[in-house]
Amino acid sequence: LRMDQQTPPPADDLDALHRQAAGCERCALYRDATQVVMGEGPRDAPLMVVGEQPGDQEDLAGRPFVGPAGQLFDRIAEEAGLDRSRAFVTNAVKHFKFTPRGKRRIHQKPDAGEVSACRWWLDAERELIRPRLILAMGATAAGALTGRAEGIMKRRGTFEATGDGTPVLLTLHPSYLLRVPNEQAKAAATRDFRGDLALAADWLR
Ligand code: URA
Repeated sequence: LRMDQQTPPPADDLDALHRQAAGCERCALYRDATQVVMGEGPRDAPLMVVGEQPGDQEDLAGRPFVGPAGQLFDRIAEEAGLDRSRAFVTNAVKHFKFTPRGKRRIHQKPDAGEVSACRWWLDAERELIRPRLILAMGATAAGALTGRAEGIMKRRGTFEATGDGTPVLLTLHPSYLLRVPNEQAKAAATRDFRGDLALAADWLR
């Protein structure tokens, strides 16, 4: 590891953290990704929203949740009374992991080692933001925040906590909603997701 990745990041500056992360070699994902994608949102955000990893569009834009999953999240959050502009939005893993297929880049799930390596950055973001509540979207975020990724369908809609005691509300990943093939199941999952976001909004009031 490089020296600047062994020392704790400065505790008061998201830009400095971003600059450090731009040189991250804690796992191999930096090699193929375009750039690191760190969280964004207000320094005093009461809510931190955590996804899995940047997708194709996020990798190109350098910003989290700007592609199809992000647009779906924005729409449902608005319906649920949750204001994204007041949230700090980030991911468990900060580089896009993919396999090339022709001209397309197909998303690949980060493995446990990659999630564990990247928790350094997620923890640093949590330290800086100190949110009142964290919304973990999907199994990867649940694993990074609570230590357990399994059983997200049964755990969604419930509160757990990080090791240092910050409440974590578990929910589905918006990309999952885009992939459910059956219309009825998709509508049910969307309702569940919207309900979880409304629960977060209520909790923060
Ligand atoms: N999916 C995620 O988990 N995060 C993003 O930033 C985009 C898509």
